[in-house]
Amino acid sequence: MEAADRPAVVIDNGTGYTKIGFAGNVEPCFIIPTVVAVNESFSKDSRGSGKGNWIAQHNAGVMADLDFFIGDEALTRSRSSSVYNLSYPIQHGQVDNWDSMERFWQQCIFNYLRCDPEDHYFLLTESPLTPPENREYTGEIMFETFNVPGLYIGVQPVLALAAGYTTAKCEMTGVVVDVGHGATHIVPVAEGYVIGGSIKSFPIAGRDVTLFIQQLLQERGEHMPPEESHEVARRIKEMFCYTSSDILKEYGKHDREPSKYNKQWTGIKPKTGAPYNCDVGYERFLGPEIFFNPEIYSSDFDTPLPAVVDSCIQSSAIDTRRALYKNIVLSGGTTMIKDFQKRLQRDVKKIVDARMDASVARHGEDVKSQPVEVNVVSHPIQSFAVWFGGSVLACTPEFYSACHTKAEYEEYGGSICRANPVFKGMY
Ligand SMILES: Nc1ncnc2c1ncn2[C@@H]1O[C@H](COP(=O)(O)OP(=O)(O)OP(=O)(O)O)[C@@H](O)[C@H]1O
Ligand SMILES: [Mg+2]
Repeated sequence: MEAADRPAVVIDNGTGYTKIGFAGNVEPCFIIPTVVAVNESFSKDSRGSGKGNWIAQHNAGVMADLDFFIGDEALTRSRSSSVYNLSYPIQHGQVDNWDSMERFWQQCIFNYLRCDPEDHYFLLTESPLTPPENREYTGEIMFETFNVPGLYIGVQPVLALAAGYTTAKCEMTGVVVDVGHGATHIVPVAEGYVIGGSIKSFPIAGRDVTLFIQQLLQERGEHMPPEESHEVARRIKEMFCYTSSDILKEYGKHDREPSKYNKQWTGIKPKTGAPYNCDVGYERFLGPEIFFNPEIYSSDFDTPLPAVVDSCIQSSAIDTRRALYKNIVLSGGTTMIKDFQKRLQRDVKKIVDARMDASVARHGEDVKSQPVEVNVVSHPIQSFAVWFGGSVLACTPEFYSACHTKAEYEEYGGSICRANPVFKGMY
């Protein structure tokens, strides 16, 4: 059987979580934290003999340099033993530790998917604004170390937009607002091509919401074991947070009816096994508010996310703007926060309407044009839309022709991966 007849492997590596699976599936087989735990003393001894030689080891049925773990297993190992060092290979959407990244992929392929990389085409993802040399490194690792027959590196938001492919109305023009764990990007796409010059970054993502909630709980003096506080803040965020329409009103509601709005977190102290409680109040709406009033979190930045989305669309060509406002698509785990879509849509609409009113005030009623439709689209698979889009694209015949192949790599080298076909006019 040819590699192209087998389903492609689809891996979306995120700052927080990696989604791993096969093309054609509706959801990833695994969603695991992007973290590696390495027993440093062990790996120093075996360096050179093990890493980089995965295929030979795999084929020989021995895995010499395997004292490392990834995902939840890595976190568990590091908690129970001090010999493991944790490494998070992706920071703010970009790989910053290639050694760890390679180990991570090794385990994804051999231990999680349990497949032979020589037998499958691969679709990997990258954050927008990834430097071309990073794509080259990825290509080198995939072709040299894992010997894959073909590789496509998709741009995350474009894949998220392609996730709509299977719905009745396929729209490849839109703005993707991807709010993950470590990076937020607002990316306009016209007919499948990223409008490179208009991509905007926003300096706040899911990790910041967790940190802010952790800080609020600490400042209020909630008692919890310090080593647990980050994880508890994350769980509280995912379980209890919502986006309010107006924080002043929300304070009022909480104060009038605390029993209705306050929640309780109950945990077990890992060292003693004793239970502990923690009250959750204003954090529920203040956490997500940092996207809409960032100055409550950081004094370095005060432009709200809806204003950045608006300026992203305004910086695109005038004849695509209406189509972009009409299809603002959410992607990334953080957009799962309750009512995030409603608030984003309302605030972008407010900005658009205010601009229209200002223009009428300046030029008179007769310049008034058609109202602009603002539509923020949410869908049930937002948290893994990028992976799903990859799964759909990698089933199309075009995928195989868009892939860089092993033969091309051998002829021209890693530089073939530098260019990314969807970045119209950028390279
Ligand atoms: N229901 C939820 N409510 C709020 N936040 C959530 C929810 N579910 C997941 N998250 C958060 O979403 C983030 C993970 O999202 P995602 O998997 O899209 O990020 P990533 O791809 O790892 O990171 P990035 O795209 O920034 O590199 C985490 O911060 C997680 O806590
Ligand atoms: Mg992501």
